[in-house]
Amino acid sequence: MPEAEATTSFKAGLDGIIAGESAICLIDGENRRLSYRGYNVADLAEKSSFEETSYLLLKGKLPSSAELEQFKAELLKARYIPSQILAMIALVPPHTHPMDMLRTLISALSQHDPDVADNSETANFRKATLLLAQAPVIVAAYHRLRNGLQPIPPLKKLNLASNFLYMLSGEEPDEYSQKVFDTCMILHADHCFNASTFTARVTAATLSDMHSAITAAIGALKGPLHGGANQEVIDVLTQIGTAVNAVPFIDKMFAEGKKVPGFGHRVYRNCEDPRATILRMASKQLGEKENDTKWYEISQEVEKYVISKAQEKGKPIYPNVDFYSASTYQVLKIDHELFTPIFAMSRLAGWCAHVMEQHANNRLIRPQAHYIGERDLNYIGLSKR
Ligand code: ACO
Repeated sequence: MPEAEATTSFKAGLDGIIAGESAICLIDGENRRLSYRGYNVADLAEKSSFEETSYLLLKGKLPSSAELEQFKAELLKARYIPSQILAMIALVPPHTHPMDMLRTLISALSQHDPDVADNSETANFRKATLLLAQAPVIVAAYHRLRNGLQPIPPLKKLNLASNFLYMLSGEEPDEYSQKVFDTCMILHADHCFNASTFTARVTAATLSDMHSAITAAIGALKGPLHGGANQEVIDVLTQIGTAVNAVPFIDKMFAEGKKVPGFGHRVYRNCEDPRATILRMASKQLGEKENDTKWYEISQEVEKYVISKAQEKGKPIYPNVDFYSASTYQVLKIDHELFTPIFAMSRLAGWCAHVMEQHANNRLIRPQAHYIGERDLNYIGLSKR
């Protein structure tokens, strides 16, 4: 069939289209279940760690204690980034959004990796380990430098999530904050063929390398319809300022035809995103513990109102992963522009697992377009136009 005629299975935005096979993540939107490699994400959030979950995603099985210890040791070693990369971070103009910085620096890291063009499973796992460890160091260093502060070297005794919080402020987070932030990273670690992961797979499917695929994925994640929504959520909550202002503020957004960030999802059409359920509780409990419940309270008012208005309209929408992660990060006192880079640091586990899966059983991803342009025009010379 000529490309122009390929209309039979066209769906705008590839909505509902099965675009490939994967054994990494199962989203069961009807039953509000999400699992990584067969394990319910709710169990992983409660009982696992980001390190263990990353191993599970990358290797396809839970590690033995020896395997986990070795993986953690490799992640620890990988926290020290090349001095040229640190020098490059210092050269990034401070007005640059950290997502744009991260996209550039991940790409630059490829120039320091002797195996950049090696797409074997061993090389890809090694590169994934490095990237998982390096991204938080890069994000924290840039955050410090653009605020006129010296980067803080990593602290060996802290896990990946807690060490990131430490590298931002120089203070070790308390145990509860450590657990909450680690849980957030687990919940963001994968979500099947979402836009950024699909971008990574399309790139990998040309037999391009891991760093190229991740660089492309970061570019896709930053958009406000995807990972960039978490920063937009906190911007909205900040503008609302207090719970009583929530309804008029959201009404105005609806009246202006704007979408409320942190709500709606292509896959969870008729139910809540199961990650939002866990994050709502985290946001509530962390707020209570820190005596800073304002952000949760505003979020609750927004949620109640958005859900009721959407139901009135007959098009239900619910909070997605970005909604309650925003109030949680806010109570953890994280800079708003770091919200989406944190999503990237977490999703790296999934992106790398998908690149490895794509390379292991590759076929070029090349769909067709339904052509809607002009046809058979006669060329007109410049002088006659
Ligand atoms: N606020 C208000 N109305 C909404 C919202 C929202 N956040 N989301 C969907 N709707 C409405 C749409 O206006 C549409 O109604 P209409 O047919 O009357 O216009 C209906 O619900 C269906 O929505 P679509 O936009 O067709 O759904 P789609 O699957 O194309 O988009 C998306 C999903 C992009 C996530 C959308 O819900 C949205 O823009 N949400 C806000 C941004 C956001 O939170 N993104 C993060 C998603 S999760 C993630 O990527 C990590």
